[in-house]
Amino acid sequence: MNIAELRDQFEQRLAATTDQKQVEELRNDYLGRKRGLITGLLKELPKLSADQRASAGKEINLWKLHVEEALNVRAEELAKPVEAEDFDWTLPGFERQIGAIHPLTLVRQKIENIFREMGYAIAEGPEIDTDFNNFAALNFPPDHPAGDTQDTLFVDRLDEKGLPLLLRTHTSPVQIRTMMKHKPPIRILCPGRVYRKDEIDATHSPVFHQIEALAVGDDITFSDLKGTLLHFLQRLFSEDVELSFRPTFFPFVEPGADVSVSCVFCKKKGCSICKYSGFIEILGSGMVHPNVLENVGYDSEKYTGFAFGMGLDRLAILSYGIPDIRLLFQNDIRFLSQFRVVP
Ligand code: DAH
Repeated sequence: MNIAELRDQFEQRLAATTDQKQVEELRNDYLGRKRGLITGLLKELPKLSADQRASAGKEINLWKLHVEEALNVRAEELAKPVEAEDFDWTLPGFERQIGAIHPLTLVRQKIENIFREMGYAIAEGPEIDTDFNNFAALNFPPDHPAGDTQDTLFVDRLDEKGLPLLLRTHTSPVQIRTMMKHKPPIRILCPGRVYRKDEIDATHSPVFHQIEALAVGDDITFSDLKGTLLHFLQRLFSEDVELSFRPTFFPFVEPGADVSVSCVFCKKKGCSICKYSGFIEILGSGMVHPNVLENVGYDSEKYTGFAFGMGLDRLAILSYGIPDIRLLFQNDIRFLSQFRVVP
């Protein structure tokens, strides 16, 4: 049988294949290393005379290339997916569940980014802390009824000084922890979970979230605090937000100020959310009390600083118009999926 006949035979057999398995069988018949027909022909080459060998070798090798290519093409043809007309386009699709970022996380990340741009570092502390970090070092007097005013939850364990450990009632102890470890200048933002002995209702939860900021350095003034807060709150809410500062008392600052933003819902016209006052109170702030600086070993003659703390849950509620704080903790997927980022 000459090569032309072998070629015809191959083409006929190739055309007759109906699935990929048959194509692979054919590949084995022709190109198989042991018993492949073409492999066999190539093995015979050395038996031919030198000039026959050259032309036969060329012919067989060209055919071999063609066979390899033709087998691949045929295999691909047979692997083609079902034709469009075989497919029922009316079948319902599969919905992919796309995750959503929790609104508290969204607001926290937004705030963290604003402060990172201003050169603040993110600092964190443990949720179980000492009386010293949570109260004493923050200038609460020893007989201060903080346990009552802040409704502290104590842990059934003592610290190394024999004092009770507690669930931190605010993120302010991270100020102390940071200052004990680092020298000024300091610029930190501390997000975290805090605990108080509160009953659960639409605006209270025994577990909630705060973000604290602290800046300590050589020449930090109340103007720096005001400028920082204005920049931050205008970035968070909108350019036209106005601030209002009202003197207040926190043991760890002097002077201390409660800060309100002009109502983002009614633009100061008065609505039920701002209780018709035009302003919404969102954070506590002040200049770090000299006693606090001394308590961590800083020279209060040399250094000054400002601090502020805010409730993240409240900010999330205001940012998204969420009517009930409990929604933030129930993890109801119907609520959370509304915060999906649409790609
Ligand atoms: N720690 C206060 C609280 O939980 C909030 C606060 C007020 C933090 C004034 C501060 C500050 O850093 O300067 O109510």
